[in-house]
This record gives sequence, C-alpha cells and structure tokens, in this order.
Amino acid sequence: MGEAMRTQVAIVGGGPAGLLLQQLLHVAGIESVVLEQRSRAYVEGRIRAGVLEQVTVDLLDKVGVAARMRREGLVHDGFSLAVDGERFRIDLKGLTGGSTVMVYGQTEVTKDLIDAAGARGCPVLFEAEDVALHDLDGERPYVTYRKDGADQRLDCDFVAGCDGFHGVSRASIPADVLNTYERIYPFGWLGILADVPPCDHELIYSNHARGFALASMRSTTRSRYYVQAPLDTRIEDWPDERVWDELEVRLGPEAAAHMTRGPAIEKSIAPLRSFVAEPMRWGRLLLAGDAAHIVPPTGAKGLNLAASDVHYLSEALIAFYRTGDGQAIDGYSAKALARVWKAERFSWWFTGLTHRFPEADAFARRMQTAEIAYIRTSRAAQTTVAENYVGLSFG
Ligand code: APR
Ligand code: PHB
Repeated sequence: MGEAMRTQVAIVGGGPAGLLLQQLLHVAGIESVVLEQRSRAYVEGRIRAGVLEQVTVDLLDKVGVAARMRREGLVHDGFSLAVDGERFRIDLKGLTGGSTVMVYGQTEVTKDLIDAAGARGCPVLFEAEDVALHDLDGERPYVTYRKDGADQRLDCDFVAGCDGFHGVSRASIPADVLNTYERIYPFGWLGILADVPPCDHELIYSNHARGFALASMRSTTRSRYYVQAPLDTRIEDWPDERVWDELEVRLGPEAAAHMTRGPAIEKSIAPLRSFVAEPMRWGRLLLAGDAAHIVPPTGAKGLNLAASDVHYLSEALIAFYRTGDGQAIDGYSAKALARVWKAERFSWWFTGLTHRFPEADAFARRMQTAEIAYIRTSRAAQTTVAENYVGLSFG
C-alpha cells in the first residue's frame, strides 16, 4: 500500500460529470481528486452527443472553460422535425423568448475540462484500476485503487460517484436502499461521423416509415448522422454506402439534395435505454450523471443532465463546507431527481414521437401521426417541445 492521500471530495470517474464537478469545486476552493479507470487518450477519443443546453453553457462559463466552445461551437436557434421526408421547423429562440442551444461535441467539452484541470493543478488520475469505495455510511469514507501496479488509498469527506452506468458507485449502495426504474427500447442507433459539411445548418429529426433518422453535426465541416436500426443488427451489415442511402431516404429529398457523402471516421451502434436510480445519495456517497440515470439520446439530454446534477451537487458541497451542516447534502438527491425525471420524460416522449416501434399496432401508429400533425400546426405544442429541448431552468 502506497502512502495514503487525503482530499475533500474523491470523484470516481473522469467523464463530463466528474470533470465538471471538479472545476465547480475548484472555483469554490474545495479540493478534489478524480480517479478515472481509462487512459486520457481513451476518454478524449470517446464520441458522444453534441448539443449543450444554455444552463450547461453557463456552467462552463462559470468555471472559465468556455473559451474554445465560444469560438468553435455553433449556436442553433431551431431544429427541424421531418415526417416521411416533409419538414417543419421548431423555432427554439422564438418560442422560448430567446433561448438557444450550443452544438459542440461532448468529446471537446471533455478535452477542455481535462486541459483546465491540468492548468489549474487539479489532480486527475487516469488508469486508476480496481476502484473500491469504503465506509460510505460513516464520516470518514475512503477509496482504494491500484495505480501503476501499486495499491493506493485516498481518504476523503465525500465520494462523488460520477463513473457512468457501469461504474462501481451505484453498485456500492445496498440493494435494499436502491430503487431503479427502466425502459429498454426495441431498437438502437447506428451513428456515423464524417468530415463532410452538414446537409442543413440545423439538426433534422425524422420519423420515417423505414425508421428514425437524425442529421446532426460537430462543425461546418464535420457531420454526425444516426439511423434507427434493429437491436440485432451488426456493424458489418452497414457499409458506409448503405448508411448514406438510408439517410437520404429517411431525411427526405430536400436534405438528400444537400447531403455530402464521405468515408466514416467513426461508426458505432448504441442501444436506447431510460433508467433512473433513486436515491442519488447514500451516506457520504453522492451519485451524478450516468451513474444514476440514462436517457435515450433523442434530445441529447445525457450530458446536460450530468451537468445539472453536478451543479446541484457542487452547491450542496459548498454549503456543507461553508456552514458545516449537512442539510444541503440531505436535499441533493430530491433536488437533482426533480430535474432528472422531467428530462427522462422528455427523452422518452421524443423517442416515442420520432421512432418506428416494431410492435406498434395501427392505433398506436395513428396516435403518433396525429401527434406530429398537432405539433406541426400548434404553437402551444411547439412551445412545450422548445422549452424542454433548450433545457429547463434550475429549480
Ligand atoms: N473506476 C473509475 N472510473 C470509472 C469506473 C470505475 N470503476 N467505471 C467507469 N469509470 C469512468 C468511465 O471510464 C468514464 O470515463 O467513469 C466515466 C464516466 O463517464 P461517462 O460515462 O461519460 O458519464 P458522465 O460523466 O455521467 O457523463 C454523462 O456521458 O455517457 C454519456 O450519454 C452520456 O452524455 C452523457 C454523459
Ligand atoms: C449528436 O450530434 O450526436 C446528437 C444530436 C442530437 C441528439 C442526439 C445526438 O438528439
């Protein structure tokens, strides 16, 4: 066992939740150590979604990690919904009284946060293996791990479980304390990244007889597209040309006319899931981000929820260190979950609206068509879509 280290908050997981939490604590003068099981190159190379809510942008501003996003990110005032190739626009800015979203890859957010940690001397330990949490129900929890072949121990006041859906943190909560809620969807998303200009200046979400499709982007020269695919599909079944053919059909003639094809620089398949674990706190363990909940990617709420969780969590920890009383810590779970459930609802609903469900009967399909037709012509309906898409304010 190496020499025991001590910090105020041990953060397990160096994804966006853990890294942003570290910066929020740092600007408030609270020390933390991030323990990440993967390498820096792996974490920085992971391709994820790319739409930031205003409140997420504001948090990056608050910690002084917004400069590159301001330069390279694309502000979007709206997006399109397409039904069997015919499009209409949701005017986010007009419907919400001025709110917009920022298109900037989660991969880039992660890199910027790691760079900031390095520049500010905030420890992020990559390749920390076999992380285990101890004495979470007491006042002196600690974390053990193995680094460069040596066993290590990190003593702390709190453990922030930011280690994603498959991490150790949620699994450290006794089963009889934890309630979980889940929906598995009967399809996945096949994603393709290519260095070609996007087919439109805004995102297009399409409900098509052949299945959902999404046209997104990372910049004016890099496109990100997705198609709904069966759960048992294999990546070998999807040569680039098949993906492009499918996108042209599903996104419709207007998008197809402006679509530039190019070799995929990344191609992957992801299942869709809704999941929430309650409570988000057990003793001195506080969960945030994917460690506590998963949303289907429709609407890109995953990273944004991780950001809002760590906003609430940092406020609770700051209050604790300022006053020494644990009331804010006690309130963290309920406060975070109130926003989580609303985003869960929106992501579930938006998935239901835009995808073709293999088991849907004729009635269910008519309901879907009617709902889209209603949204197309009702400003009230469009307003609820826009309000949720740009992100709900912190309650
Ligand atoms: N020990 C240390 N680190 C771990 C462990 C472990 N046992 N298990 C997982 N991790 C790390 C992962 O390698 C990953 O880097 O925790 C990190 C969790 O990061 P994310 O999965 O990105 O989760 P989060 O930070 O909550 O961000 C949520 O990311 O998963 C997407 O779609 C999701 O956009 C959302 C956002
Ligand atoms: C993405 O660009 O990866 C993306 C955008 C919007 C979504 C999901 C993913 O709803």
